[in-house]
Amino acid sequence: MTKFLTSSLGKKTVMAMTGLFLCIFLLEHLYTNVQLFFGDGGKSFDEASHGMVHSIIIRIIEVVLFFSIIVHVYQAVVLTKNNSDARPVKYAVNGVSKTSSWFSRNMLLTGSIILFFIVVHLYNFFLPYRITGEVVEPEAQGEHLAERVAAALTNPYYAALYLISVLFLAFHLNHGFQSAFQTLGANTKKYVPILKMAGTAFAILMGIGFASFPILFFIFGEEFLNWNL
Ligand code: HEM
Repeated sequence: MTKFLTSSLGKKTVMAMTGLFLCIFLLEHLYTNVQLFFGDGGKSFDEASHGMVHSIIIRIIEVVLFFSIIVHVYQAVVLTKNNSDARPVKYAVNGVSKTSSWFSRNMLLTGSIILFFIVVHLYNFFLPYRITGEVVEPEAQGEHLAERVAAALTNPYYAALYLISVLFLAFHLNHGFQSAFQTLGANTKKYVPILKMAGTAFAILMGIGFASFPILFFIFGEEFLNWNL
C-alpha cells in the first residue's frame, strides 16, 4: 500500500480521488447555498446549515474533507515539482503549450487561488459560526449565518474576491474533472471526448451557480434574502 501511494501512479490516484471528493462537496455546498434564494429571510439556509452541523455523518465527511484538501494541496505541490523536474526545457520553448491546454498547465496557480479563498471563507463563516459563536444557531437571538453571508456578499471587496475565485475554480474544474476520470482508468478513445464535455459542463454549472450569489446579493443588497422569486 505504502509503495503504491508513493509511486507516481499512486500519487495521481490520490489526487484524482481527493479532487473528485472535493467536487461532491461543491455540489452539496451549492445545494445548501441555493436555499438563500428561497425568500424566507435565510431561514431554510440557516436550518440546512444547522442540520449539517448536528449530523454525525456530515461531521465525519467534514473531517474527511479537511484531510482531502490537505492531501490534495500537498500532492499538488509534489506532482507539479516532479513534472517540472522531469521537463528540463520550458513549455513555450519546446512547443508543449500547443498540445496541452492553459487549464492543464496552470492547475497549481488556479488551485492556489482556490486555497486562498478557502482560508478567507473559513475565517469569515466557519470561525464565527463553529468556533467563536459570534454567529448563532437558527433558534437563538443574534446574527444568523444567512445574515452574515448576505453582509459579506454585499461588500464589494468580498464579492469581487468571491467572483474571481469562482472563475478560477471553473478553470480548475474544466481540466480537473475529466483528468480525474482519466487517471482512474476512463481514458479510452470513446470516453475521453465525453469526459471533456462533461468536465466543461460541470465547470460551467459550478461557475454560474456559485457566481450567482455574489452577483445577486451585490446588485440587490441584503434585502434579497426576503425576495420571493
Ligand atoms: C474545491 C476545491 C478543489 C477541487 C474541486 C479540485 C479538483 C481537482 C481535480 C478533480 C483534479 C484532477 C485530478 C487528476 O488529474 O487526476 C485536480 C488536480 C489538481 N489540483 Fe485541485 N481541486 C481543488 C483545490 C485545489 C487546491 C486548493 C490546489 C492547490 C493549491 C489544487 C491543485 C491541483 C493541482 C496542481 C492539480 C493537478 C495535479 C497533477 O495531476 O499534476 N487543487 N483538482
